[in-house]
Amino acid sequence: MTLCQQLESSLAAVLSQILGSPTIAPVTPANDLRFGDYQSNAAMVLAKAQKMNPRALAEQVIAAWPANAIATTEIAGPGFINFRIKPEVYAARTQAAATDDRLGVATVADPRTIVLDFSAPNVAKPMHIGHIRSTILGDSLSRIARFLGHKVITDNHIGDWGTQFGMVTWAWKNILNETALLENPLAELLRLYRHASDASKADESIREACRLELVKLQQGDAENFAIWTRCLELSKYGLQQIYTRLDVSFDHWLGESAYNDALAPLVEKLLEKNLARESEGAVCIFSDGSVSDPTKDPFLIRRDGEWTDFPMMIRKSDGGFNYATTDIATLQFRHEEWNADAIWYVVDHRQSLHFQQLFTVAVRLGLDTMDLRHIAFGTILGTDGKPLKTRAGDLPQLADVLDDAVSASRKTVEERSRLDTDEERAALAELIGISAVKFTELAHHRLSDYVFDLDKMVALEGDTAPYLFYSFVRSRSIFRKLEAPFTAGDAIELTEEAEIHLARLLARFAEVVPSVLDDCRPNILTSYLLEVARAFHSYFEACPVLKAEGITRYTRLTLCDVTARTLKKGLALLGIPVPQRM
Ligand code: ARG
Repeated sequence: MTLCQQLESSLAAVLSQILGSPTIAPVTPANDLRFGDYQSNAAMVLAKAQKMNPRALAEQVIAAWPANAIATTEIAGPGFINFRIKPEVYAARTQAAATDDRLGVATVADPRTIVLDFSAPNVAKPMHIGHIRSTILGDSLSRIARFLGHKVITDNHIGDWGTQFGMVTWAWKNILNETALLENPLAELLRLYRHASDASKADESIREACRLELVKLQQGDAENFAIWTRCLELSKYGLQQIYTRLDVSFDHWLGESAYNDALAPLVEKLLEKNLARESEGAVCIFSDGSVSDPTKDPFLIRRDGEWTDFPMMIRKSDGGFNYATTDIATLQFRHEEWNADAIWYVVDHRQSLHFQQLFTVAVRLGLDTMDLRHIAFGTILGTDGKPLKTRAGDLPQLADVLDDAVSASRKTVEERSRLDTDEERAALAELIGISAVKFTELAHHRLSDYVFDLDKMVALEGDTAPYLFYSFVRSRSIFRKLEAPFTAGDAIELTEEAEIHLARLLARFAEVVPSVLDDCRPNILTSYLLEVARAFHSYFEACPVLKAEGITRYTRLTLCDVTARTLKKGLALLGIPVPQRM
C-alpha cells in the first residue's frame, strides 16, 4: 500500500468508528508542505452530509487518531485534516526501496488488456515533426501501463491505403529514376511524392490522373498493386530506421490496408442493423436523437444558427470507403481478436470529432464495455510562436529534427563533458539529443502547444533531460569513491530536514507512476523527476556523505542510491536511458 492508501484506510476506520457506519475517506498529497505531507477534507464532506459541525468532527478524529499511526494529524481551517508522515516511516520506505526493483510501485489489482494506437503516420511520405508527439507519448504510456502490470498491445495503424498512394503511383509511372531508386530509395520516393503533390496542386488533370491510379489500386489492378507493395516496403524500412533510433517498437503494424476485406461486409451489416443509411448515394451514420443536448451530439453541427446533420460517411457515392469505415472495422477487430478492455488512441486533437463519432458508433454496436480514449495533443510551434515549418514552408522531417537535436547537444557535450574519447562524446551527444526531444515532449501538458527550442532542450541547466542525466551521474559518482562496495538494504535513520524531504519525494514514486494513467499525462512523471533531482542537489549540498560516519553515512549513501535508481527507472518509463558518465 502507498502511504496515501494507508492514511485513507486509517482515516476511514476512525471516521467509521465515530459515525457508527462504514465510510470512505479520500486523502490527497498536500499542496503546501509547510502544513503536512497529505491532507483530507473527508471530515468536512461527511459533516455536511450529517448536518454536523465540520470542525467538531475533525476534532473528534484527531482525538481518536491512533498514536502508532504512520502520521501525526492537525486541523486546519474549517475542518481540513493535515497529516505529517513520521520520519521513521519514510526511513522504512527508503530502506525497502533500496532492495526493490519496482521501487515501491505495486502492480494493479485489475490488469486489463489495453491496446495503444499511436504513431500511425501516413506512409509513402516521410515522418514529420508532427509525428513526434503521438510516437513519444504513446511509447511512454505503453511502458508505464506494462510496468503497472497491464497487458499492453501496441499497434502502429499506419495510413497505407490513402490518396498519397495514387500520387506516388502516378509519379512512379511517369518520372521514376531507377538508378536513384537503387541508390537512395527513400529520397527517390520522397521526390516522387513531392513531384506528384506539387503537380496535382497546379494541374487539375494530374490530380484526376492520381485519383484514377488510386481507384485502380483499390480495384485490385496488378501493376498498381505491385507498385504499392514496393512503396510500402520501402516506406516501412524508412520508418523503422527512425523507430530504431528512438527505441520505439510495436507489437503489430496493422495498417489501414489490413482491413480492406472487412469494409464492404461491415457497411452491409451497419445498413442491416439500421445503424447507417443511404444519403445522396453515399452511406452515412447519423444522429439517433438519443442525446438531448445537441452540443454533446457528435453527429450534429451548428450552421447558420441551426443544428444540422454532421454524419459520419462510411461509403462514398463512388463505392470507396473512408478513414472512418476502417476505424470501425479496426475497433471491432481489436475487441473480437484481442479481447481489448481498452483502446487508447494517441492522435492529434484536430481529430477529436472523428473519435467522438467513432466511440458513439461503438456504443451503438454494443461495444461500450471498452474504455475508449482519445488521447489528444496540441501543436509543436517554432520559436516565432507559429506552427513549426521549414524555410520552404513544409513541416520539418523528423529525421532532420533529430539530427538537429544531436548537433545542438554536441555543443553542450563539447563545452561540459568530462569524457575523453571522441567516440564516447559522440554517443553521449546522440543520447542527449534524442532524450531532449523526448523529454521536452513528455514534460508539456499534452493538450498545450509548445515551442520547439533546441538550445533550451539540450541545456544542462533547466527542466531538461541533460539536467536529470547530470543529477543521476552525480548521485552515482559518490559510490566510485568508496573503499568497499556498498550493500543496500539495512536500516537507516533520517534526521536532517533535507534528508527527510528527499525520502518523502522518493516515497511518492509509488503514487506518482500509477497516477500518470488517470488522464494519460506523462508530464506528471517528468515534473516529479525534476523535483526529485532538485531535492537531491539541495540534500547533497546540505548533508556531507563521505565525511559522515556510522548510520548517518550509511543513510546518506542509501539516499544517493535510491535517488539514482528512481531517476533511472522514472526516465526508463519515459523511454529515456541514462548515461553512466557525462
Ligand atoms: N494515420 C492517421 C493520421 O496520420 C492517424 C491514425 C490514428 N489511428 C487511428 N486508429 N485512427 O492522421
